Amino acid sequence: MTGLRELTEPDAQGRFGPYGGRYVPETVMPALLELEAAYREARSDPAFWSELDYYYRQYAGRPTPLYFAERLTRELGGARIYLKREDLNHTGAHKINNCLGQALLARRMGKRRIIAETGAGQHGVAAATVAARFGMKCTVYMGAEDVRRQEPNVFRMRLLGAEVVPVTTGSATLKDATSEALRAWVTNVEDTYYVIGSVVGPHPYPAMVRDFQAVIGRETIEQIRAAEGRLPDVAIACVGGGSNAMGLFHPLSAYPEVRLVGVEAAGRGLGTGHHAASLGAGEPGVLHGALSYLLQDEHGQVREAYSVSAGLDYPGVGPEHAWFRDTGRAEYVAVTDDEALAAFQLLARTEGIIPALESSHAVAYAARIAPQLPPDAIVVVNLSGRGDKDIYHVMRLLGQAGREGEAAR
Ligand SMILES: Cc1ncc(COP(=O)(O)O)c(C=O)c1O
Repeated sequence: MTGLRELTEPDAQGRFGPYGGRYVPETVMPALLELEAAYREARSDPAFWSELDYYYRQYAGRPTPLYFAERLTRELGGARIYLKREDLNHTGAHKINNCLGQALLARRMGKRRIIAETGAGQHGVAAATVAARFGMKCTVYMGAEDVRRQEPNVFRMRLLGAEVVPVTTGSATLKDATSEALRAWVTNVEDTYYVIGSVVGPHPYPAMVRDFQAVIGRETIEQIRAAEGRLPDVAIACVGGGSNAMGLFHPLSAYPEVRLVGVEAAGRGLGTGHHAASLGAGEPGVLHGALSYLLQDEHGQVREAYSVSAGLDYPGVGPEHAWFRDTGRAEYVAVTDDEALAAFQLLARTEGIIPALESSHAVAYAARIAPQLPPDAIVVVNLSGRGDKDIYHVMRLLGQAGREGEAAR
């Protein structure tokens, strides 16, 4: 256990090995130092965690089940596959775990307003949800392109009382929304708290968001021991910024016998340049205040990411994953759009569960390796969210829109 803590707790500068840190303008430092002090104090206060536990249970619906996917297992042949059902959380994804933690911290710090960035809108909806619940004002920065693509989630956020600000700079997507949210935070820091959506950004965000998501891994350990009397052989999760994956991996990383596999988006293929595989095909560099792997062009400029799933469509990744990658504690693989779409349909057909396109990447990798493993092997797949948000997108991709329209008429 001591080795683990040395491996995965950031140092005083917020570094995991060489990664992480605080690469920010001087104006952001006071806000980060205030946050770090507040989180350090909250983290060591049992009352903070018991209040969070109350909201996890009574509001988000935890613990989420660890479900044995019997028909999927039979269909694939090989390892026994379990699904950690984060899709059953309130608001439909793991993002609520983190937003509840940060909202409680914001309230403790006396902040009355929260701001957030969002890409696909899942984190924005979770942030708007906790703001409504705790009676805080909420502003969500969202790339203008994503505002157009994710209309239902924009409506949802507005219904929850949030102001959605379209960001038109750069590629008008998540990367630009994050930059804008960081800027807005600095100019309003007295009354405003910035709820970041993944294990990215400057210290203390990566470690803090991980702590709020680690409930996924802790529950998994307890549940798989109850079901199978032991830990899994393999734990698989998709990686965008990396929060659902780190939430699952971190508690399991204490057990060297468990293989941890993060699945990035290979998009149209790693060779095409249209992908979001920061760990698989990126280089170390600085983005949004931290050093980590990121997609860059030959001049070191951040390259645009691409994935069929908006939640994986980010050119960077959390610094703790970069460290897990370099130390070999976790493996990182990539799955194409086509494989993810096939897995989306496979899970719907075999288990009656429509996964988020992000989570479909993890399911696809499980489908790739399960047949090669013996029948007594155990694989846990983190189902980070549900696919309701993706059905229209998938309908268009599969060319079914016309047929469905005819049926409706
Ligand atoms: C359902 C779902 N899964 C995964 C992700 C990727 O984020 P992370 O890698 O931080 O878990 C998102 C992001 O929007 C999401 O909505």
